[in-house]
Amino acid sequence: MEQMRADRFLTALGYGSRSEAKKIIREGRLLKNGLPVKRPEERIAPETDRVELDGAAVRFEPMEYWVLNKPAGILCATEDRYRETVISYMGLKRRGMVPCGRLDLDTEGLLLVTDDGQLVHRLLAPGRHVDKRYEVSYSGELPPDAAERFDQGIILEDGTRCMPAELEEPGNPAILRIQEGKFHQVKRMFRALGTTVTHLKRLSMGPLYLDSLNLRDGEFRRLTESEVQMLREFTEGKREETGSRKMNTPGAGNGTESCEPELPDINRFRAFLFDFDGTLVDSMWMWGAIDEAYLRRFGITDFSAENLSSKIVGMSLPECAEYFRKEFHIPAEPAEMIRDWEEMTVEKYRREVPLKPGARHFLDVIKGRGEKTAITSSNSPRMIRAAADSLGISEKIDLIITADEVASGKPDPAIYIEAAKRLGVAPEDCLVFEDIPEGILAGKRAGMTVVAVKDDFSAGQEAEKKALAGYMIGSYEELL
Ligand code: URA
Repeated sequence: MEQMRADRFLTALGYGSRSEAKKIIREGRLLKNGLPVKRPEERIAPETDRVELDGAAVRFEPMEYWVLNKPAGILCATEDRYRETVISYMGLKRRGMVPCGRLDLDTEGLLLVTDDGQLVHRLLAPGRHVDKRYEVSYSGELPPDAAERFDQGIILEDGTRCMPAELEEPGNPAILRIQEGKFHQVKRMFRALGTTVTHLKRLSMGPLYLDSLNLRDGEFRRLTESEVQMLREFTEGKREETGSRKMNTPGAGNGTESCEPELPDINRFRAFLFDFDGTLVDSMWMWGAIDEAYLRRFGITDFSAENLSSKIVGMSLPECAEYFRKEFHIPAEPAEMIRDWEEMTVEKYRREVPLKPGARHFLDVIKGRGEKTAITSSNSPRMIRAAADSLGISEKIDLIITADEVASGKPDPAIYIEAAKRLGVAPEDCLVFEDIPEGILAGKRAGMTVVAVKDDFSAGQEAEKKALAGYMIGSYEELL
């Protein structure tokens, strides 16, 4: 096993979040081979170093995080004498693996299974207000005031009052967002409104979305390292609260005006950092067609465009080229592939790509005030310049920095950290605009405030974007 950073070592073992791990290290409580670890970046060889925390030996047994698109008919339990459980269905042998929350036998959809008890608690404790969204089919008719009644807190048949919930989509199936997990809760809430649930599927939990996880019915897989990190960062940002309150997940509107968060005050910031495609310009529509045309040149037609786009989103062009070479065995050098992509797209950028709503006016206003601006993108500088020149915004941009100038693409924060450094502005004084979850995470991890920008290409991820960034705009005018 490879060496790893000391703070990573601690978080992988469940000793809290990244910032808690850093604190442990700062306090000198972690020893490696008898000596205190001084910096979070210090390397630990998990299999050979002797590690102690607060005087006790620490053995490396990293925790496991799995996601399942649960089919009906499987019991959400660790063991059962008669029935298949999610643990036996997934063939998990490791001790301590538990489903994160209960789905009924006949309920389908997203289920996290892990041995990270602290994370499970953070996701399930009602005081933490983690969203769970369900698709609900039902028989009967919901009353006309159903949305208000969910919002005010449904009273169940036994008199229990639920926390406020949001009827995101009132049709049949409906989509309901709740923040607690009482026994048979969704079914009982619908029953209290005179209907009977006939089919129930969990669509999301906190930042995990079934759609983005690419799991078909009954499929399961381990979360990637960056997905686990995202989950940890999400739960770290959620403090326990007591007492009842309105649903107020940042940006996730519930139809009551008081719950929409304010947008950040742009006067607070000295630099404005824009991702390019989908954020500053409306160009995401053309990439699927380019990938398809490029692969067709090599006779490759048998692939899922949606799957491909979800795999490469956020990658730098060299990372994409490597991915294409490995996945599709393209017999070309990365530099050659990038040149080809540029040839294919540069004309489109010159002629067919418009600015996103309100972007021109916004740039005029912030440049008029003398603030700094940068484009921070995974695209190539040549394409960005071609588009910026033809849109007449080049003189409004102080810096263009692309992912191939830093160690790795988004969600790694490197591109944002480097941009702030080159502009000479502290991360906390930077406002980032991003249209995809990976980019939002990159900005947040760099310690910046992030505003998610709506884009048709990522319309299915809107709730996730809102939850991660905390702010969302459809037009830059909203900030002025
Ligand atoms: N609510 C229910 O009624 N059942 C589930 O499985 C999950 C939420």
